Amino acid sequence: MSRHAALVLLAFGLVFQMSHGIEVNVTKDNKLCLYANLMLNLSVSYEVAANKSQTIEFELPADAKPGDSKCEDASSTLMLKFGEGHSWSVNFTLKDKVYQADVITFTYNLNDSTVFPNSQSNETLTVTEKPHTAHVPMDTCFSCKSKEVIEADKVNMTLWDVLIQAFVTNGSKSENITSCAADVPTTQVPPTTHVTSTTTAAPVTNTTSTAPPATTTPMPTPTLPTPTIGKYSLKTDENGTTCLLANFGLRIAFMQGKKYQEMNFEPNGTQFSGFCGANSSELVLVSDDITIKLTFANDTKKFRLHALNVTAKTNSGVFVAANTNLSLWEASVGSSYMCNKEQNHTITSLLTIYTFNLQVQPFGVTKDVFSTAVECQADAESFLVPIAVGVALLVLILIVLLAYFIGRKRNMATGYESF
Ligand SMILES: *[C@@H]1O[C@H](CO)[C@@H](O)[C@H](O)[C@H]1NC(C)=O
Ligand SMILES: *[C@@H]1O[C@H](CO)[C@@H](O)[C@H](O)[C@H]1NC(C)=O
Ligand SMILES: *[C@@H]1O[C@H](CO)[C@@H](O)[C@H](O)[C@H]1NC(C)=O
Ligand SMILES: *[C@@H]1O[C@H](CO)[C@@H](O)[C@H](O)[C@H]1NC(C)=O
Ligand SMILES: *[C@@H]1O[C@H](CO)[C@@H](O)[C@H](O)[C@H]1NC(C)=O
Ligand SMILES: *[C@@H]1O[C@H](CO)[C@@H](O)[C@H](O)[C@H]1NC(C)=O
Ligand SMILES: *[C@@H]1O[C@H](CO)[C@@H](O)[C@H](O)[C@H]1NC(C)=O
Ligand SMILES: *[C@@H]1O[C@H](CO)[C@@H](O)[C@H](O)[C@H]1NC(C)=O
Ligand SMILES: *[C@@H]1O[C@H](CO)[C@@H](O)[C@H](O)[C@H]1NC(C)=O
Ligand SMILES: *[C@@H]1O[C@H](CO)[C@@H](O)[C@H](O)[C@H]1NC(C)=O
Ligand SMILES: *[C@@H]1O[C@H](CO)[C@@H](O)[C@H](O)[C@H]1NC(C)=O
Ligand SMILES: *[C@@H]1O[C@H](CO)[C@@H](O)[C@H](O)[C@H]1NC(C)=O
Repeated sequence: MSRHAALVLLAFGLVFQMSHGIEVNVTKDNKLCLYANLMLNLSVSYEVAANKSQTIEFELPADAKPGDSKCEDASSTLMLKFGEGHSWSVNFTLKDKVYQADVITFTYNLNDSTVFPNSQSNETLTVTEKPHTAHVPMDTCFSCKSKEVIEADKVNMTLWDVLIQAFVTNGSKSENITSCAADVPTTQVPPTTHVTSTTTAAPVTNTTSTAPPATTTPMPTPTLPTPTIGKYSLKTDENGTTCLLANFGLRIAFMQGKKYQEMNFEPNGTQFSGFCGANSSELVLVSDDITIKLTFANDTKKFRLHALNVTAKTNSGVFVAANTNLSLWEASVGSSYMCNKEQNHTITSLLTIYTFNLQVQPFGVTKDVFSTAVECQADAESFLVPIAVGVALLVLILIVLLAYFIGRKRNMATGYESF
């Protein structure tokens, strides 16, 4: 109740310093539109004398104010202002009913001697950094108890016990939780070492909600939503005919150092190029953060995915993996290969790809459309099940009909006898 009263009084935002974490309610038109509850430590290295620097670490102060926090349709900002001209903010964007934190910005004023004693400089500095990407389905809260350390130039930001919901739709925080990857395997054994966690961390603090979240981790895996299906085609030349067709949704999962990462390939905005040859065709897809090169081979009238080279940009740097000795997606030249079921393939010991609604034809495309499809085993099996069920039903119907006619015949026979 007090929360509602407060929301009406303040049009913009509220900060509560809870016993644990800072809680922020950002409102728009008096309705909750962004919720955050988090713990944040800031560690800053600054010069105290010529060539001599000092590092201080402090918690986000309790008197932080929600500054210029704001909510728009597809983007929103959580901003916390504190002390003499310091601020910390996160930008969220929404796309295809999935939101994510895009940029974290920390602005600090070295002139504030209470925070930065003996600072040589009196400048106000700003660092921006991309957080570890977590894709959060809309209408769910992102939760991460694990620590996430975001390293920027001269600044480390440590987040933990984070619970955030951006793009709140109906004015109240969702009870559904999307947990970060780091939380899932570590729920039983808390990490003893100070490890950088996989994704943005958030804690489950059921502070404001009237109903406590009964099940905080309903999801067995911190899965991304099914990737968007992309449709790609190549032509022999500018005015030529289509010579390669490929439709699929793609997810990559890889180990970068000790960190497990998952990314969906985003077809929207993807640049694609390549070539069609008699013995080899190539498709190169370039999205914002993933570049993928697929090389198909045609030998002895059969085609296969022969080589795959994946380059992914993450916060930890660039991940590259390639295998030039694959035999995947095989079918005869003149047909296409299809697999509607989710499929996974180990490309290297560090990289696995997941495909969704796959259909490819790298050779012998005629009239700009896919030729007859050779289906993968998984599809074929799912196709067999309805057939088996159908056959069983048919047999059952025959038996019932047979029993009926036999019964009828007997009845008629006895009927005649009774006359
Ligand atoms: C500071 O470092 C620079 C080079 O990094 C050096 O030229 C300069 O002499 C140093 N100043 C002091 C006071 O040590
Ligand atoms: C956060 O900073 C405070 C004050 O420097 C320190 O006592 C605490 O251990 C830090 N916590 C973490 C998780 O780094
Ligand atoms: C910052 O320091 C410089 C010289 O050290 C001084 O000229 C300037 O006025 C100071 N600026 C502020 C905002 O204090
Ligand atoms: C949230 O959970 C409820 C009940 O478990 C479910 O009906 C609803 O669809 C969920 N919403 C989302 C966005 O997952
Ligand atoms: C940030 O963390 C890294 C790795 O732990 C450390 O080397 C660096 O000194 C830290 N920087 C600051 C400003 O705390
Ligand atoms: C969250 O809810 C649980 C279960 O009702 C309760 O035990 C716990 O104290 C609550 N936590 C907070 C921070 O209110
Ligand atoms: C494609 O067609 C346009 C117009 O019809 C023509 O100007 C151009 O030269 C053609 N390009 C090729 C590679 O044939
Ligand atoms: C693709 O992205 C553009 C701009 O980012 C957007 O306007 C468009 O709606 C998107 N299309 C789809 C199908 O998501
Ligand atoms: C595939 O390779 C065979 C020879 O191995 C060749 O005869 C055939 O034309 C090639 N198919 C295409 C579509 O280039
Ligand atoms: C394709 O492979 C065949 C047999 O290996 C070879 O004779 C032919 O020259 C190759 N064609 C091209 C365009 O490389
Ligand atoms: C994969 O692509 C990257 C970037 O284009 C390149 O540096 C690397 O050599 C390629 N690897 C293979 C095996 O082709
Ligand atoms: C990969 O696919 C197989 C079936 O083809 C399935 O049993 C397995 O669970 C999948 N692995 C992952 C990590 O999804």
